[in-house]
Amino acid sequence: MSDIRFDEQVVIVTGAGGGLGRSHALEFARRGAKVVVNDLGGALDGSGGSSVAADAVVTEIVAAGGEAIADGASVTNDAGVAAMVERTMSKWGRIDVLIANAGILRDKTFSKMDLADFAAVVDVHLMGAVKPLKAIWDIMRAQNYGRIVVTTSSTGLYGNFGQSNYGAAKLSLVGLMNTLKLEGGKNDIRINAISPVAATRMTDNLMPPEMLTKFAPEQVTPGVVYLASRDAPNGAILAAGAGVFAAAQIVESDGAYLGRTASAEAVRDNWTNITNFAGAEAYPAGMAQTQKFLRKAVE
Ligand code: NAI
Repeated sequence: MSDIRFDEQVVIVTGAGGGLGRSHALEFARRGAKVVVNDLGGALDGSGGSSVAADAVVTEIVAAGGEAIADGASVTNDAGVAAMVERTMSKWGRIDVLIANAGILRDKTFSKMDLADFAAVVDVHLMGAVKPLKAIWDIMRAQNYGRIVVTTSSTGLYGNFGQSNYGAAKLSLVGLMNTLKLEGGKNDIRINAISPVAATRMTDNLMPPEMLTKFAPEQVTPGVVYLASRDAPNGAILAAGAGVFAAAQIVESDGAYLGRTASAEAVRDNWTNITNFAGAEAYPAGMAQTQKFLRKAVE
């Protein structure tokens, strides 16, 4: 099979001034893409900002013979996002790929967390993906082509102590993907999620140093590149880190029909049966679950 290339394609990577986003941006450029390196350049908690980080990645790309422009907009800023998309369109005339990667952390246990820290994290991860996506959706529809990768996390999929805001924000992106994978299908717009594990400033305090050396951001990027390629799947969740790639899914047990007037006690007494995951399925859309309910209710 031929190499995956992005010649003539335009790729926006948000949060690409460092960590995973930088690695993604460099690799897309190496594979022929024209890259918009977006980064607010703030601190890990989202405070502050400058275009220095994005400029440095553009310099690296250009030095290696690639094409890139820097963009210092916050992904949560409507006017900034609109300007980034306008600038990209007027320079290159199309947008093929969006990698929604920008993110911040404000870790605290739920009892100590104030709502401002909860809202800020949801805003950057969820609305910071939604806003660029919304700004380019009709462009991709008109092109009849688009590839989108959102960045979820094991915290969203499975939980992590002290990260209720982050976990809620990260799994919301899977919910967003699950509907957009259906709505984009007609125009060959595919959307997937990456669940990375990588040593970056975000994981500096979360992983011991000896573990950090095994998790380079460059080991996640091949997964992102495939999810954004012409032959990408649609609606997949790919976990990646340290050279390991695995797929995650939301599955549902077959379930038990307990009758139209089932009581709370019936639910309790059938709990083992209800939670028997032998033969569990992942559904392509919510309606598949409704259809199963109907089918089982008339069996
Ligand atoms: P990082 O902190 O190095 O990168 C995040 C980048 O996003 C930073 O360069 C930051 O300036 C930028 N950013 C933050 N707010 C922004 C905004 N409002 N507008 C534009 N840019 C903004 O951390 P890392 O690890 O590279 O994170 C990348 C993504 O991967 C994040 O979404 C993170 O939640 C996710 N992730 C990372 C994991 C890891 O193991 N490193 C695990 C799971 C998910």
